[in-house]
Amino acid sequence: MRILSGIQPSGRLHLGNYFGMMRPALELQEQGEAFLFIANYHALTTVDAPGDLREWTRDVALDFLACGLDPERTTFFRQSDVPEVTELTWLLSIVTPMGLLERCHSYKDKIAKGISPVHGLFAYPVLMAADILAYQSDLVPVGKDQKQHVEVTRDIAIKFNNTYGETFKIPDVSIQEAVAVVPGLDGQKMSKSYDNHIVLFDAEKETRKRIMRIVTDSKSLEEPKDPDACNVFALYRLFASEKQVEDMAERYRAGGFGYGTAKKELFELMQTYFEPMRRKRAELAADPRYVDSVLQDGAARARQEARKTLQVARKAMGLA
Ligand code: TRP
Repeated sequence: MRILSGIQPSGRLHLGNYFGMMRPALELQEQGEAFLFIANYHALTTVDAPGDLREWTRDVALDFLACGLDPERTTFFRQSDVPEVTELTWLLSIVTPMGLLERCHSYKDKIAKGISPVHGLFAYPVLMAADILAYQSDLVPVGKDQKQHVEVTRDIAIKFNNTYGETFKIPDVSIQEAVAVVPGLDGQKMSKSYDNHIVLFDAEKETRKRIMRIVTDSKSLEEPKDPDACNVFALYRLFASEKQVEDMAERYRAGGFGYGTAKKELFELMQTYFEPMRRKRAELAADPRYVDSVLQDGAARARQEARKTLQVARKAMGLA
């Protein structure tokens, strides 16, 4: 079974990305042949500073390798190192109904937020379909917000196959429902665009400062507190063992336990949790040639697959 997913390098990765996407993606390495890529073509729709794009692409690569991506097992690459997907995007766009794209929530949301309605943003789901179909993927694990895009991919693939003959595998989507929602500092969903996020590998001082900013209610130290209504607790439980969770919940309920202490414990637990990965990341960062070679090897493997698919599609359409 081939499992494929992509992540946009549109900023440094944070806890929401880690628990929502990275960890599940890394677990999938065990279940099949994984393809994972850094969607830098997609990120162009929101990042217009080349320096930022380059830096964040590198950061994402380091983060994944540090957090356990095994390049022997997983084909890990930069999207733009497989330019075949852009040609495939055009071929797919031939059968993509305008209405299908006009209905995409992600597009409508971005326009509503004031992002200008350029063609790249509109065609974003077709590029995503090309990513998925180029590698004849069976399963696409994504967050809820991307579910519709995978459905669009299926529709496009079905239409193409009906028009030109069996060319693409119809992929299934897998939504990580079990994954906890990661609240941000303010209790809304953690997101870079709300600036309520905690970056995975940040300077210790910055991480501490952010954790101290987590919004709580104004109960006094003595008062009993409800752990399940607290953002600090919600983050703590992502890292904690069952025993640690119960222990902290009890202290909340008993009273005499302040949010400041809870934050301090969250900070320490988070640091401990990421310590081995932080060390690995520092080693990798010191060896840029190794990281480059991983991405290059991944791209070579991915390209081979994409070329095969593209050849079939071109032939089916009468181009070759
Ligand atoms: N659009 C996805 C996101 O923002 C990233 C992505 C691009 C992707 N191409 C993909 C995910 C193909 C899965 C499959 O999260």
